[in-house]
Amino acid sequence: DAALAAGAEALRTHVRDVHDFPQPGVVFKDITPLLATPAAFGTVIGALAETARRAGATVVAGIEARGFLLAAPVADRVGAGIVPIRKQGKLPGRTVAESYALEYGTATLEIHHDAVGPGDRVLIVDDVLATGGTAAAAANLIRHGGAEVLGLAVLMELTFLAGRERIPSLDVTALLAI
Ligand code: PRP
Ligand code: MG
Repeated sequence: DAALAAGAEALRTHVRDVHDFPQPGVVFKDITPLLATPAAFGTVIGALAETARRAGATVVAGIEARGFLLAAPVADRVGAGIVPIRKQGKLPGRTVAESYALEYGTATLEIHHDAVGPGDRVLIVDDVLATGGTAAAAANLIRHGGAEVLGLAVLMELTFLAGRERIPSLDVTALLAI
């Protein structure tokens, strides 16, 4: 539809490919030109907000770090709360943790144990869906608190990494498939 298509077009024109970052052979999708262009950024936030509205989200969960840049303005537009899902050791209160596999080793995400609960309708927001490990961990953290995970909304999905297969229970909205 119109809002989502406009978001896709803004991404096509404002996301920069950086070759061989962070490792040789990898093409990094750099969103900093998008962030620096108010009209394009607003269009993309509008598309994510439309997704959040349609899903009936009462909470938007953002994943550190790039997910934070998107979750906050989306939550503000739809009148939802924001819950940060952070990398290990950053949240001050009692936390629940979930580890996930990276190409080499593991990483851990955390949420405050009382950040979400029964009755909360949560949309998870991030910039990229790659292997799906990050999204799977985030969904487990939200569900641990008894909240409902409405889905995952991302700017871009790297389809060749088949991340959706790792998160079959999540309804994924990607503005742009690559
Ligand atoms: C990147 C990206 C997504 C995640 C996707 O985060 O922002 O959050 O990887 O990868 P996956 O689907 O294979 O799990 P990363 O932690 O590398 O960096 P960031 O702190 O800049 O968000
Ligand atoms: Mg990230």
